[in-house]
Order: sequence, then C-alpha cells, then structure tokens
Amino acid sequence: MSSLPYIVGNWKMNGTRAMLAEARAIDRATARLPGVQVALAPPFTLVHAMREAVESIGVGGQDCHVEASGAFTGDISAPMLADAGADFTIVGHSERRAMHGESDAVVRAKAEAALAAGLSVILCVGETEAERDSGQAEAVVGAQLDGSLPLGAEAAQRLSVAYEPVWAIGTGRVPSVDDVSAMHRSIRAKLTAIYGEAGAEVRILYGGSVKAENAAELLAADDVGGALVGGASLSAESFVAIIGAAAIAR
Ligand code: 13P
Repeated sequence: MSSLPYIVGNWKMNGTRAMLAEARAIDRATARLPGVQVALAPPFTLVHAMREAVESIGVGGQDCHVEASGAFTGDISAPMLADAGADFTIVGHSERRAMHGESDAVVRAKAEAALAAGLSVILCVGETEAERDSGQAEAVVGAQLDGSLPLGAEAAQRLSVAYEPVWAIGTGRVPSVDDVSAMHRSIRAKLTAIYGEAGAEVRILYGGSVKAENAAELLAADDVGGALVGGASLSAESFVAIIGAAAIAR
C-alpha cells in the first residue's frame, strides 16, 4: 500500500454523463499534485465511461454483490466492476447497511468477493448519534470491524477502512479532532490485532461532511490516511480544494 494521502469521492446516486466533465477536471488537477492519491466512485452507470475519461485517478464502485453472477436482478458483481475498469469498490457504507439491511456478515462477503475479483476495497464503519451519546462509539465500530473485515492477512494489502460517523454524513457536523484521533487509534489497534503487521499498513480514511474548510484539520488528526468525501466531491472546484489541502497536509 501507499502512504500517500488517499482522497476518495463517493458520488452516491448522483451523476449522468454530463458530470464526466467534473471527473476530467479532477483528473487534470490530480496530475499536477502527485503527492496525493485520488479516486472517484461514481454510480455503476458511469464507471466505464469515467475510466475511459481519466488517467491520474482511480475509479471504483460503491457496492458489489457477494456472488460473481446469477439470478440477482438489479445487482452488480465484483468481476463486472473489474471488467468495466474499476480499481476498487466501497462496501459497507452506512446508507447500504441502513437502507438495504446489510449485516456485517454480508459486508464481509462483499469485501471478500471484491478482493477475489482483483479489486481493492474501502470498507466503511461508523456509529450512530445515539451510540456515540451513550459512550458506545468505539465498541460499535470495533464490533463492525470484527464482523465485516475480510479474513486473511493478505486481505490487508488491498484494504482501506473508512470511519464515517453516521451522524456526520451530509449534516455539516463533524466530530472533534480528538474524537477522530481516538477512533482512528482504536481502529488501528483492531487492525493490527486482526492482521498482525499487515494491519499497520491499512489506510484509515475519515468520512462525514469533509469540506475544503475542515479538510486540513481532519487530515492532521492521528492516523488519518485520507478522506471519503460525499457532497463536496460532486464538483471539481470543491473536491480539488480538498485534494489541495491533503497535498499541503502531507
Ligand atoms: P458527505 O461528505 O456528503 O457528508 O458524505 C460522506 C459519505 O457518506 C461518503 O461516503
């Protein structure tokens, strides 16, 4: 894995082909900032076209099915993503855990399917507001990691973990730098307990209301290896400002 800061845009259910202009602009800016690794996860419909349109950034999916093929209407498999030119996929995003009822076991199976297809994986974890308020945040995230991380030390080589507190997603609210640092230290301890030495190499991204204005501060917290950005990744102007903050923070 690389120690460069990793800045990933999750476009969620946003973007038609007209949005490829934003991806091209992000790609051109990234080519001028070699100290940062950048990727975008557009909707499935744009993965192939985006891969063809960019050179300096990674392109990935937002989810994949646990099986490689079969009678699963509406689903997309990891080998299909790889065939479309994806380098990676996100799995276990809180929106999928909550709205599609994805359990830790399903998220683990998806991560393992993605790795088997040759993709890298960004696995998301994070607590709800009620869980944080009741002092359970680290326990909840620890249990998610225990249940959903792909098994086997070799998995760690193509894995990033994204800590995304559910209450910070799309709300404009972010945890304190101290809380981010504490959570990332706790995730690191879990990763090294599970993967041994290889767990020290897994990048831990922060996600949830990352903007140009707060990116430098969040990226400077302990063991923050990058950011998973939603809304602010939809325009080149705001996303490139975050990439720029990562280049300076380095
Ligand atoms: P926002 O940056 O819009 O809060 O979204 C974060 C997120 O869910 C990225 O996966």
